[in-house]
Amino acid sequence: LVPTMGYLHEGHRSLMRAARAATDLVIVTIFVNPLQFGPNEDLDRYPRDLDGDLAACRAESVDVVFAPTVDEMYPRPLVTSVHVAGLTDALCGVSRPTHFDGVTTVVAKLCSIVGACTAFFGRKDAQQLAVVTRMARDLDLPVEVVGCPLVREPDGLALSSRNAYLAPEQRRAALALSRGLREGVDLVVRGERDPRPVVARVLDVLAAEALVETEYVELRDAEELEPVARLDGRLLLAVAARVGATRLIDNAHLVIDGARVDVDLGVVATAS
Ligand code: PAJ
Repeated sequence: LVPTMGYLHEGHRSLMRAARAATDLVIVTIFVNPLQFGPNEDLDRYPRDLDGDLAACRAESVDVVFAPTVDEMYPRPLVTSVHVAGLTDALCGVSRPTHFDGVTTVVAKLCSIVGACTAFFGRKDAQQLAVVTRMARDLDLPVEVVGCPLVREPDGLALSSRNAYLAPEQRRAALALSRGLREGVDLVVRGERDPRPVVARVLDVLAAEALVETEYVELRDAEELEPVARLDGRLLLAVAARVGATRLIDNAHLVIDGARVDVDLGVVATAS
């Protein structure tokens, strides 16, 4: 199962390829889920291109595409929802307080519809991956959640359907997110083990770009998403910022073991 909201790009396609390589039946879902959009968010203008998406799925040898309407997914008002506590309070949960309930509720429905499966999610949405992983465990869903690498443009911009909103000048400014992450990660690689100067460096890079309005920069442990006082173990360096009206997120994963630092800034797309 590869759940998506469509307007498929190389990040989505990398999930389809991971699924194709690991399983014998690949199901892609395309559904712009109203439940996970806040009242002032971009539900109405979220980009859509079903024909292009079907062509992408065909090119990746997907077996089944499930692209339901809102009425098919929600034929009656929902009085049931899935809430993952704690993990959804911080990071993106602060500015999007109802978002993750919408995600977990629709992912739980998609998993029920599809049945026992392996579900592939991108590390681009690191908090979403942590939340969905925890939901599957807590509810004993017959679903194995697999995380896949974050895919970037050659210039570093994390691929996102929302990049379509960016004017050329904004797109250039948006590169500050990945540049900031790289500079923060560099400090850690050079031995910094206090999170504060690392976060401060990323904030500085973002602040230097006038078109970027930072929402958060945080270093947290990668599984529980708890703040850390010292840098050690599996960590997530995550940023969220607005460029104009477009909200963008990006992150790096770090595994620190003494003097050894494994850096995961994702992979670069070779086709699009
Ligand atoms: P959407 O934003 O369409 O993303 C679908 C899947 O593609 C998610 O697992 C996301 O992490 C992954 N993805 C997006 N951009 C990526 C990139 N640059 N590199 C790697 N993976 C990337 O996330 C959602 O939809 C929805 O919340 C959904 C899970 C479908 C529930 O509605």
